Amino acid sequence: MTAPGSRGIPSQIRLLELTAEASRAKPLGVPESPARTVASPSITTGAGIRPTAVEIDLDALAHNAQLIAGLTGTAVCAVVKADAYGHGAPAVARSLEAAGAVAGFAVSLVEEGVQLRDAGVRGPVLVMGPAQAGGGAEMVARALTPVVSAPGDLDELAAVARRRQARVAIHVKVDTGMSRLGVAPDELVALVTRAAALSLDVVGVMTHLANADVEDPARPDATTWAQLDAFDAAIAAVRATGAPVTTCHAANSSGAMMFPRARRDLVRVGLALYGNGHWASDAALRAPRRPALRFVTHVAQLRRVPAGARVGYGGLGVMTRDSLVAVLPVGYADGLPRRVTGAGQVLVAGRRCPLVGAVSMDIAIADVTALAGVAVGDEVVLLGPGSGRFGADHVTTAELAGWAGLSAYEVTCGISKRVPRLPA
Ligand SMILES: Cc1ncc(COP(=O)(O)O)c(C=O)c1O
Repeated sequence: MTAPGSRGIPSQIRLLELTAEASRAKPLGVPESPARTVASPSITTGAGIRPTAVEIDLDALAHNAQLIAGLTGTAVCAVVKADAYGHGAPAVARSLEAAGAVAGFAVSLVEEGVQLRDAGVRGPVLVMGPAQAGGGAEMVARALTPVVSAPGDLDELAAVARRRQARVAIHVKVDTGMSRLGVAPDELVALVTRAAALSLDVVGVMTHLANADVEDPARPDATTWAQLDAFDAAIAAVRATGAPVTTCHAANSSGAMMFPRARRDLVRVGLALYGNGHWASDAALRAPRRPALRFVTHVAQLRRVPAGARVGYGGLGVMTRDSLVAVLPVGYADGLPRRVTGAGQVLVAGRRCPLVGAVSMDIAIADVTALAGVAVGDEVVLLGPGSGRFGADHVTTAELAGWAGLSAYEVTCGISKRVPRLPA
């Protein structure tokens, strides 16, 4: 496949190409030297001095994908939108592909699909989002598969098919009850029939489940079952038009893990793939899923603070005894949510310590009074498994999300681009 030149490509896509270029120079899976390398393309000076980083365990991702495939008996589509939920989409997708662990990838934006192709990803990439107008030629040129979710999406793709004198494969998304995105069931047959006449082959039919993460599959009145009934009807209607459908898919992680009837030909998993979330069916996996991400820093300074002193902006942290606090070079600008203030914990050299005072933009403070022998340079884990001379513990995404009043998705997506992603 020939990569199109940059002429005519929106500047946003060119920007992503530059970003991909930068990350190709120092790929996540291939550290250049034993010294800390800097993978963040946005940092050009001072690189690697601050010890705050995200470590990605690429093996854990392949392990998780294989476990999920084993449970579901279907192909796995890795959802790598939003920079693989903050894990770094190019490296994540490349490694999953190299491991043969997934059947393909799903992104939201055309730009995200282009980024995967620029990173050398060759497998199928579904572009699921609603903002594809203007990206039709790019998607076809890069062999990205558009998901059509409204009748108006067909015309641009049809024009591309005409220009190239080739049929274009698409998936169609049907709204089975989420009322967010997708073709209404009563418009589906007309859309699919028109697509065929416009040289667009409907090879896939998909829907998205609104409540699989909160509903009990044992309840026959779960809305997920109603969505799946509607999906069955939609698939039958599409097939009856003669469309060359090969792949039907409905399940996100919760659907895949908890609603066997949602599994179909493939499951589109993000949360479970990254080792997050928890489901009863985890017990049926051949082995535990593993978290793929560690968000770490080091103790930058230690300071003694007398009883009664107030710590940080607004004096929100009040020391009730003579204390030793550790200054951590990480803040909300890095994705440690300010909203953990008053509740958050970190692992310092493996042991849990409370954060004190307000998390500020670049700095957080941990109370390490209870840790004899803590030293500047000790590892501090903000998220993920820790290890150290004080023991091993694990800050889960669910915990950090709970302290901050966020979802697990927001926690990993929220780790900012200022933080380099490094191989574990
Ligand atoms: C259409 C679609 N499918 C699948 C997923 C993956 O969801 P999860 O991360 O819960 O597996 C998403 C994520 O938001 C999505 O929007």
